[in-house]
Amino acid sequence: MAIKQVGVVGCGLMGGGIAQVTAQAGYPTTVVEASQELLDRGLAAIRRNLDGLVEKGRLEAGQREALLGRLRGSATLEDLREADLVI
Ligand SMILES: NC(=O)c1ccc[n+]([C@@H]2O[C@H](COP(=O)([O-])OP(=O)(O)OC[C@H]3O[C@@H](n4cnc5c(N)ncnc54)[C@H](O)[C@@H]3O)[C@@H](O)[C@H]2O)c1
Repeated sequence: MAIKQVGVVGCGLMGGGIAQVTAQAGYPTTVVEASQELLDRGLAAIRRNLDGLVEKGRLEAGQREALLGRLRGSATLEDLREADLVI
């Protein structure tokens, strides 16, 4: 089965990193946190990571935007219902 959509539960250290990598690899990715506050914190950490990569010249600004366009956050587990793979 082809994987078209990836879901990640938890946007802490591991989940945030995994969601970043799957979105960077081109997969539309939904990352779910236990609350909106935790989600905002996790997504902010991903954005900071990406900013660091852009500053170091390891990621182009356009790639950062494309990656973020594939990354969706949610505080509702049901939003993973369309995912072909949940990590
Ligand atoms: N950090 C590591 O180096 C490492 C290495 C190997 C394995 N792990 C394992 O990976 C897992 C996550 O580790 P971490 O370091 O990312 O922890 P973390 O505390 O940084 O992140 C876990 C996140 O999961 C969220 N969460 C908890 N319950 C949830 C729920 N029901 N729905 C949605 N989100 C929920 C928490 O709010 C938290 O943000 C753990 O099981 C850990 O043992 C971690």
